[in-house]
Amino acid sequence: MSRPRTVLLTGASGVVGRAVLREQHPDRLRIIPAARSAPVPEAAEPVLRCDLTRERLGLDPDSYRALAAEVDVVIHSAGLTEWGLPAERYRPVNVDGTRQVIDFAAQAGATVHFMSTEFVAALLPGAPAQLRSENICRNYIDSKRQAEELLRVSGLPHTVFRPTNLIGDAATGWTSRGQIVQQMSDWLLRGRAPFVPVHPGIRMDFVAQDLLAKAVVRAVELGDDEGAFWVSYGPEAMDVEGCLRVLAKHAAAVGRTFTPPPLVDADTLDPDEIDRRDPMTRAYLSVLRDVGEVTRCSGGVLPTSMPMLRSRYGIPVVDDTAAYATSLAYAAEHLG
Ligand SMILES: NC(=O)c1ccc[n+]([C@@H]2O[C@H](COP(=O)([O-])OP(=O)(O)OC[C@H]3O[C@@H](n4cnc5c(N)ncnc54)[C@H](OP(=O)(O)O)[C@@H]3O)[C@@H](O)[C@H]2O)c1
Repeated sequence: MSRPRTVLLTGASGVVGRAVLREQHPDRLRIIPAARSAPVPEAAEPVLRCDLTRERLGLDPDSYRALAAEVDVVIHSAGLTEWGLPAERYRPVNVDGTRQVIDFAAQAGATVHFMSTEFVAALLPGAPAQLRSENICRNYIDSKRQAEELLRVSGLPHTVFRPTNLIGDAATGWTSRGQIVQQMSDWLLRGRAPFVPVHPGIRMDFVAQDLLAKAVVRAVELGDDEGAFWVSYGPEAMDVEGCLRVLAKHAAAVGRTFTPPPLVDADTLDPDEIDRRDPMTRAYLSVLRDVGEVTRCSGGVLPTSMPMLRSRYGIPVVDDTAAYATSLAYAAEHLG
């Protein structure tokens, strides 16, 4: 029997990394979890401490060589994911760090599966609208776009997964950390939103993190080494009213009162309506407006590879509103 493929997983301590580890089948894949400093409770092997901003991933020459001799595949999930930072903060990790991963993969003769973002759609040539330079997500997205480009010109066998905003596990809502969708939802549920800025026609496209993890693990198992996949629902995704209905149902289930805030057209909204608010309200409203703008610049309805992900990688058909409701229930009980 041939040995299972050996996979180096960067970002193993992150939301995506930990979801990938939950999908591993040790008889089919051996995953070496790599992270900078945070714990990785799902790891079946000792965690390799590496830093993408350092030469040879921060490893000594012998360890680096030995690792390259072992590894067949890299799942590159490490990155700086916080929004709203200057471009020079993203470059060392997301761009130069990906260059380090490419150099490693070239030495190892490994295929790379790169976790990019759906949001690169907003910066692609032919995007239906121009993203404002001050959009809170822009520098992050641009760093992911540059990383994709490095991979494209590297000549290495690789795939690119472009997930939209992720939520908890489809069946249980589990997540290692609350993310933007849970934080925004909580803020809305607490009745803090004076209004919701909405770009006309956009969908609320959230994907359960295990669907991404299943697809990536399956791509590795199948030995796939090309393609770029939009991990999103596209036209199947709920609209804004549908999203508010899920929130209202959740509130009723946990005995809370929820009055959906009014929707206002983000295109005609006076910026002062946001700027004059207290800092917390301003921050939440700005994120809502800017994420909506990214969606609008990506076409309003996001590009999707969901049919292909289901047929080739066998990811289950999951109703997005059901997964969102499950995620809310988990967050209410476990994320505080
Ligand atoms: N989660 C989402 O909703 C989502 C959506 C679209 C795309 N993505 C993409 O998917 C990937 C994973 O996202 P995530 O949500 O799992 O991110 P995350 O939870 O923020 O985790 C980031 C990971 O990167 C590692 N890391 C950060 N800086 C590093 C460095 N200098 N050297 C080595 N490792 C470093 C972190 O390690 P430590 O914890 O040890 O510091 C952590 O494991 C990202 O590239 C992101 O762009 C995520």
